[in-house]
Amino acid sequence: MPDREERFTVLIDAVEAGAGRDDPVVLDLGCGPGSLAVRLLDRIPAARVVAVDTDPLLLALGRAAYGDRAGLRFVDQDLRRPGWAGALGLAAPVDVAVSTTALHWLGARQLRAMYAELATVLRPGGLMLDGDHLTEDESAVPVLARLGDVVSERATRRRLAGRERHDEDWTAWWEAATTDPELAGPAAERERRGLSEDHHGSESVLLVQHVAALRAAGFAEIGTLWQYGENRILCAVTPG
Ligand SMILES: C[S@@+](CC[C@H](N)C(=O)[O-])C[C@H]1O[C@@H](n2cnc3c(N)ncnc32)[C@H](O)[C@@H]1O
Repeated sequence: MPDREERFTVLIDAVEAGAGRDDPVVLDLGCGPGSLAVRLLDRIPAARVVAVDTDPLLLALGRAAYGDRAGLRFVDQDLRRPGWAGALGLAAPVDVAVSTTALHWLGARQLRAMYAELATVLRPGGLMLDGDHLTEDESAVPVLARLGDVVSERATRRRLAGRERHDEDWTAWWEAATTDPELAGPAAERERRGLSEDHHGSESVLLVQHVAALRAAGFAEIGTLWQYGENRILCAVTPG
């Protein structure tokens, strides 16, 4: 995915510069198999990363690949369920919460509740950094919304041009993972939880939704740190 690696790099730059210590407590919300968490630990080795996800198959892959990684702890929690933050077993306030392409899976109400609960475990002056495709509101700023979509789409097309398309796509990857005999247990649990690789019906893809939910949760400064069209890193700071 074009820009994914650059977005990780910039987001970790912000953690390094904004955490205020060399051994920050970092929450990775919707961590998947730990792609961002391990990149973060590569650059900030003393960080203590609590990586949260609700998908047993992705958590199983993460634990298999990085389970012995110092400073990394995977936790099985559903961010839609109130009380998730209290169940993380945090020993210290969180310096920075990070997330990439995960929080738009939450419905609008769940997103608001999630940010509100997050605010209770972040330290004063703590950061929330969300890397995701968050679009402008078409009804309020139609030209910006259309151009954001167009430049992201063109960038993707340009970067993929000339590349052979024999890479495994999203659907093929999930099919292979869920039918792999070694992953039969987590795949069955995933099925039991009603999780699907498709998004849930309600999605929070609007930038204004996130900004409003963060503001309602008490975050002070809120703004975009890095952007390519609708692909951005949204940053929010708790009052100091
Ligand atoms: C596209 S993946 C991104 C994974 C990882 N952050 C990355 O960038 O590689 C979205 C992730 O969000 C997780 N997720 C979606 N809804 C969630 C929820 N309610 N609670 C916890 N994790 C959730 C999914 O299980 C999945 O791992």
